[in-house]
Amino acid sequence: MTIKACVFDAYGTLFDVAAAAREAAAEPGQEAFAAVWQTVATDWRLKQLQYTWLRALADAHTDFWEVTQNGLDWALEASGLEDRELRERLLALYWELSAYPEVPEMLASLKSAGFGTAILSNGSPDMLAGAVTSAGLGDVLDDVLSVQDVGIFKPHKSVYQMVPDRFDCAPEEILFVSSNGWDAAAAAGFGFRCVWANRSAEPMDRLPWTPDKVLSDLIQIPEIAAQF
Ligand code: LAC
Repeated sequence: MTIKACVFDAYGTLFDVAAAAREAAAEPGQEAFAAVWQTVATDWRLKQLQYTWLRALADAHTDFWEVTQNGLDWALEASGLEDRELRERLLALYWELSAYPEVPEMLASLKSAGFGTAILSNGSPDMLAGAVTSAGLGDVLDDVLSVQDVGIFKPHKSVYQMVPDRFDCAPEEILFVSSNGWDAAAAAGFGFRCVWANRSAEPMDRLPWTPDKVLSDLIQIPEIAAQF
């Protein structure tokens, strides 16, 4: 079975989720934040994701922008930084996250080899459009699929089902790539070929499914897509 399309998670996989906090910490007048920015960035991401899972379980869907703000508020309070201006600055930077350095060339190479390319993300369509535009990825992506169309967050199966529906193919003709171990595992459980881009060298999530391959970045994706 050959691969028809390569589909990527967005935040943490194509876009550097820590970039907003890292950039804000380097700005003048942010000395207090600079001392704790890594903790804030980690808490922000963890809470953002926890809120997506809890809302999916509790049947209380909202858009990803709201859980992104809720996660940040928790993280800032946990670090004793309830600073309105800093909050607004971090949120503004989240709309223009940079892509990881290998991403533009990797996507261009997939496209020139004839693979379909898309994002499948919890992000709301407007957040994703902002990130895709600011990273200059519009021309190398065929589509940007948002959970907003199914009204529940990952890893619900109806989210992954959007991909075979969009590319009119079987799940095993999709190569799905995520830096989130739980997302890569659940997508493998759904039936995709799967790569976990384990950017932070984390242990494998203890879930019933495992990805086909584990990499540390996305450089080899075009080569791997051609091997299946
Ligand atoms: C996404 C999150 C899970 O983009 O990173 O869907």
